[in-house]
Parts: sequence; C-alpha cells; structure tokens
Amino acid sequence: MIEVKNVTKSFGDLTVLKDFSVDFNQEGVTVLLGPSGTGKSTLLRCINGLETIDGGDIIVNGLSVKEKKNLRQIRLDCGMVFQRTVLFPHLNVMQNLTMSPIKLLKMNKKEAEEKAVLYLKKVGLESKAKAMHNELSGGEQQRIAIARALMMNPKALLLDEVTSALDPEMTSEVLKILETLAQEGVCMLCVTHEMQFAKHVASRIIFMDKGIAAADETAENFFSVVRKENERIAKFLQFIGE
Ligand SMILES: Nc1ncnc2c1ncn2[C@@H]1O[C@H](COP(=O)(O)OP(=O)(O)O)[C@@H](O)[C@H]1O
Ligand SMILES: [Mg+2]
Repeated sequence: MIEVKNVTKSFGDLTVLKDFSVDFNQEGVTVLLGPSGTGKSTLLRCINGLETIDGGDIIVNGLSVKEKKNLRQIRLDCGMVFQRTVLFPHLNVMQNLTMSPIKLLKMNKKEAEEKAVLYLKKVGLESKAKAMHNELSGGEQQRIAIARALMMNPKALLLDEVTSALDPEMTSEVLKILETLAQEGVCMLCVTHEMQFAKHVASRIIFMDKGIAAADETAENFFSVVRKENERIAKFLQFIGE
C-alpha cells in the first residue's frame, strides 16, 4: 500500500532521512518510535506529499509522490491527523465533517450527513454535531479530526502524536477510539510515545534513529527480545519511562 524506497530528505545541511526504505501493507497498526528530531514527522509528511523528497521514491497505492498530479489521490488515500488538528473555525462539527466529502468526493449532502452521524457516534460525539471548535475540548477536537479523516474513506491513517497535547484522560479517550478502529481493520501508521498503546495495539514497531529504521519488528519481539539486545532502544524505552 505504501512503499518508501531509498528515500533521502534534507533540510539544508541536515539530512533527516538517509536512504530510508520501508513498506506498509494495508493491515494493522504500525507504530513509529524514536527520539525527537529523528524524522518521524518528516516521513509521514513525505508520504502525504506535504514535503518533497530529494532522492528515492514513495509509492502510495501505485502512485508516486514525485508526480504532482498524484498528490490529490494520495492525500485521499492517506488521511492525516496531527498533534493539534485545526478544525475549520467558521464551520460547525457537522460542516467540518461533510465539507470535503461533498466538495471532493461529490457526495450528496444528505448522504454525507448520514455518514457523519455514524462517525460521530463512533467517536462518541454525536451530541456535538452543531458545536463550533471553540466549544470543544482538545480531546474532542482530536476525536472530530479523526472522524473527519475517516469521512474520506482513506486506505490508511497517518497519525502524528495525536495525543501528545492532551491530558491523560483525554489521551485515553482518543486511544480507545484508535484501538476500536484498529480492531475494525483500519490501517494506521502512528507516531506516538504512548507505550501501552504501542504494546497492546500495534502489530509492528519501527524504531527510527538518525534518519534510518534502526529496528523493524513485531511489537511482541520489540518489547521482549529487541529491548534487551539493543542498548540504544533499551535506553530510549527507559528514558520515556517504559
Ligand atoms: N521544514 C523544516 N525546515 C528545516 N528543518 C526541519 C523542517 N522540518 C523538520 N526539520 C528538522 O528535521 C529534523 C527531523 O524533524 P521531525 O521529522 O519533525 O522529527 P521527529 O518528528 O522525529 O521529532 C529536526 O531536526 C527538525 O528540526
Ligand atoms: Mg514529530
């Protein structure tokens, strides 16, 4: 589904991704771990065509990110949610959810609204359809952002630290939703420091360090064998309190 092939990406003198290769298929949750500044966000942004790449290629569902004309389809295929997702401030929740399906997928309004109600239920916020963004907590805004991404029927969700601006209670609400989506088979590529989530929900862990995938393992293996054998990873897990 997503093939990252020998990708190099630099910002000026700083090489963030070095000949980076990895494949993601359509099944399961992959968690990207690694110290701050190792290129996790950059990788997600390159996959979604929000950053250009300097070398190599990224193919999403058969389409290269290097071709500008492919970017619209790639962004439809890969829904992205960020640490702080900005809802359209002049639109209420329902309008936030239905605007892109109506405009880009040519869905009719009634169908879009029915679908929005389903996704609002899924994220536990059906009572907030008429709310404006400033009437929602941070956790609620993130749950709406996830629902909004799902409205576009993405083949994969790219999630960049979607809970790191939230307090513990809101974090657990959002993680619960992601866990449910995972059980329903939604493919997710997820940067997070939530180790319990990584342990129990992810099928695969990629540990990024200095622009390369320093480990690419099943979650089970990562948290049992690899952490014992790899000093760098042991140190990282210890540092984040796992
Ligand atoms: N637009 C940019 N311009 C310059 N440097 C950037 C830009 N985006 C990211 N970087 C740098 O690239 C490195 C990797 O950043 P990032 O992908 O955000 O890391 P991570 O998400 O793993 O913390 C960091 O050193 C960061 O400062
Ligand atoms: Mg980041």
